[in-house]
Amino acid sequence: MVKTTLKENSLKVIKELKKLGNSIEARELCANLKMEYEVLMTQAIFELQQEKFADYSEKQVTELKAEAELKEYVKNGLPERQLFNFLKENNYKEIIIDEFKALADLEPKIFFIGLSNMKKNRWVVESKAVDVPTIYIYDENGPQSEIEKLVEKFKSKSSIILEELPKKLQDQVKILLKRKLIQKHAYTSRVISLTKTGKSLDISKIELKGEEIARISSDMISDGSWKDNILKLKPFEVENAGPRLNAGKLHPMTILMNRIREIFLSMGFTEIKGPLVELAFYNFDSLYQPQDHPSRELHDTFYLSNPAKGKLPEKKYIKNVCETHENGGKSGSKGWRYKWDEEISKKTLLRTHTTATTIRRLSKVIKDKDTLPLKVFSIDRVFRNESVDRTHLAEFIQVEGIVIGENVNLCQLRGILTEFYQKMGFPKIITRPGFFPYTEPSMEIAVLSKEFGWIEMGGSGIFRPEVTYPWGIEEPLRVLAWGQGFERQAMQTLERKDIRDLYRSPLSWLRNVKYTKGGS
Ligand code: PHE
Repeated sequence: MVKTTLKENSLKVIKELKKLGNSIEARELCANLKMEYEVLMTQAIFELQQEKFADYSEKQVTELKAEAELKEYVKNGLPERQLFNFLKENNYKEIIIDEFKALADLEPKIFFIGLSNMKKNRWVVESKAVDVPTIYIYDENGPQSEIEKLVEKFKSKSSIILEELPKKLQDQVKILLKRKLIQKHAYTSRVISLTKTGKSLDISKIELKGEEIARISSDMISDGSWKDNILKLKPFEVENAGPRLNAGKLHPMTILMNRIREIFLSMGFTEIKGPLVELAFYNFDSLYQPQDHPSRELHDTFYLSNPAKGKLPEKKYIKNVCETHENGGKSGSKGWRYKWDEEISKKTLLRTHTTATTIRRLSKVIKDKDTLPLKVFSIDRVFRNESVDRTHLAEFIQVEGIVIGENVNLCQLRGILTEFYQKMGFPKIITRPGFFPYTEPSMEIAVLSKEFGWIEMGGSGIFRPEVTYPWGIEEPLRVLAWGQGFERQAMQTLERKDIRDLYRSPLSWLRNVKYTKGGS
């Protein structure tokens, strides 16, 4: 059998652990052995861990230290107890407050703290009915209050651990802190215990390890002494893991966005980009959203004040959009039948959806004689005036795609969506009737996730003639469109419960997140 050897400090530690027969907090162990904390952890425990004789667990704890004033209260009782004892010892059933104050041997401030706590504890009551404020004993027993129970914990120790207190007493800690009777400080507590092997180890068989040389110095080489020490050289531990390197890498959100880009590209789409600052004209009017549509209102949309207005496209397109709203124009629709106001459409805003960018692209198709069918997508930032919480952001990303072609139909849209979401790792999609002012028919899309069941992804549909005709896209040309939020899906793929984490980027998450291709 291989004999066990340990260095002196490790031997001391294991002997102590055996003697205790129990786990022990590292600092306490240091005190017992008069060993420095660093030496204990980096030498002794390190070696015992390597040998698998001992191990430790870490947790964050909050230490509460008694101040001198509290120590005195531990001895004599809190002011309320001192006052109550005084009343009882002197057989007072009632006493005028001023008299009480004169008789009690306490500073005025402390006297009033004590008095108010006596009342709070219902040991005494104050009468408001008499001219001179008087207090009466209400409960002869003066039962121990929660805060007294907490103070009692300091009887045997001058510091205690917050996390080890029962919940009820933890709530009292705030009061002691406020009264400046304790100080708190947080540290990492390491609790050391023997492993199974360590427990069954026979200490008498352990030998003291001789001096070890970790590194041959240049002196040892020049004076040749390395030859005499060759047997003392510390062997390499080849099986130990090396230190963890936290190398720079792409943010998981970037990786995920690139994956979506790849999917679109693999399906023959090209990416489009558009301005963050948009005109109401592209964000709303061109999408056949009437000018009094509720989503245009300030609570949803961030409007700009400088410049408050922007430049519209060529006159004929403005006229087309205007006519569509007022009477349907060439689209065959009756329109919304109200007076359309060009000035409102000039307003600048932060785009509320990437469909504004889609429309910009669509508006050029006929003018530029683009080759059809045309398939484009966008992954980009949008803004809405929402209050931020664990499921909402005021700026977020939308993923959106369109297909422009002759006689394209709903069946093809469903086919494209199925393929798209399949590639994203969702084998099944469900489409339900939906509503958007700019598509008809419209479909809501939900996908099946192994973990969460059906999850809502976004909307889709065929752009209404009211949207496409102003730009010369006319039957048999049609436009299939769909869009979804990006963050909800990212939360699932990247396993974050709080949407804000995706941008706050907690380091522990960034370092550990495992991102695998495919699957959600
Ligand atoms: N723009 C819609 C949204 O913001 C999504 C959508 C895009 C719906 C395209 C239909 C067609 O939710």
